[in-house]
Amino acid sequence: MKKTILSIALCLMASFGFSQKWEGLAKTPPMGWNSWNTFALDINEQVVKDMADKFVNLGLKDAGYTYIVIDDGWMTKQRDENQNLVVDPQKFPNGLKEVSDYVHSKGLKFGIYNCAGSHTCGGFPGSRGHEYQDALLYARLGVDFLKYDWCSTGKLNAEEAYTTMRDALYATGRPILFSLCEWGDNQPWNWGAPIGHMWRISGDIFCCWDCEYVHDKGLPTQWSSWGVLPIIKMRQNIRQFNGPDHWNDPDMMEVGNGMSVEEDHSHFALWCLMASPLFLGNDLNKITDETLKTITNKELIAIDQDEKGIQGYEVEVRDSLSIWAKSLKDGNWAIGIFNLSKQTKQVSFDFKSLKFTDDVAKESFDCNTQEYKVRECVNHTDYKTGTKKPVNFTLKSHDCVVFKLEKSTGKK
Ligand code: GLA
Repeated sequence: MKKTILSIALCLMASFGFSQKWEGLAKTPPMGWNSWNTFALDINEQVVKDMADKFVNLGLKDAGYTYIVIDDGWMTKQRDENQNLVVDPQKFPNGLKEVSDYVHSKGLKFGIYNCAGSHTCGGFPGSRGHEYQDALLYARLGVDFLKYDWCSTGKLNAEEAYTTMRDALYATGRPILFSLCEWGDNQPWNWGAPIGHMWRISGDIFCCWDCEYVHDKGLPTQWSSWGVLPIIKMRQNIRQFNGPDHWNDPDMMEVGNGMSVEEDHSHFALWCLMASPLFLGNDLNKITDETLKTITNKELIAIDQDEKGIQGYEVEVRDSLSIWAKSLKDGNWAIGIFNLSKQTKQVSFDFKSLKFTDDVAKESFDCNTQEYKVRECVNHTDYKTGTKKPVNFTLKSHDCVVFKLEKSTGKK
């Protein structure tokens, strides 16, 4: 009986064109690797297969990384005579289904890229006017994740354009995580939750700690990419829109692509404190031990993946130390301290001196009334005196520590 009612309900929903996003695909921030930051348009079958191998062999899969995403450049410049997208035969001689099968055979998920406009940002055919046709192709290729860009969109309405693709994905019957990449231009945090699972909040990231990189300087096509700090400062008041199944996305990471070890620590820790999607953008074939340690830090990843899904924030800056807090489940906290200065600092930090109320998490922090156990997650150290006594540590320029504070039983 129950089954019959369900079938009737599904038929009615289908005949009325009922549509929605695929719910529940991103209960915690999605994790994976994307080709763009290192390979740009220069991708091919071997690169993708190598990354899938590395996910398993380097322990990235065990650390929670799941999606291997091919960004722009996987197709030819023209659709075929039936208006289907054509997989580039030079780059992917065996087609993409073979690559997707390979990725799946490793227990991983497969992602792809296109764009809401007439062309992708790299000048390949976009999905405008072909949404249902393209979505069907992705489903047949075994795609699990679609990153959907915003170039060549003219006067398109962003919410409508992304809704059309959401509906097209749903109509395929294959659950596909939908990643909106419209750079925050149309404030997707205001309308994106029923449409996608994550949305970019900024222009493209650039591999630097604190810079703006101007492309096409002086030309009408001028645009900028941004370092780690400018991206973070760009959107100060949207953390209330972050949460399970709909995440603010500050872009794929640049860890391992040329910043200092300390800056890489901080870049990774900031993404974790912001409960951001964690997409690697480095060449895993050339990874150093140091980078591997940074990106597989399970304690920091656990903070990112905390099921409460609260985006942490900068609570205050003291003497060039930026102090961040992220409310975690069970009344616990992550407290990050970042050295913004150019000098190494000897720090003595008294948790009791930090008092605040997080209006989004609706939690207050005061170690004068609540004690916590203290574990530092970048260098993996326990501080036996907990929050009772100040903690002492050295921080190199742009380096960080991230404390996980776990409630001790009993109030003081
Ligand atoms: C845009 C996106 C990038 C990347 C490129 C591909 O710039 O923001 O992340 O996908 O397009 O052309």
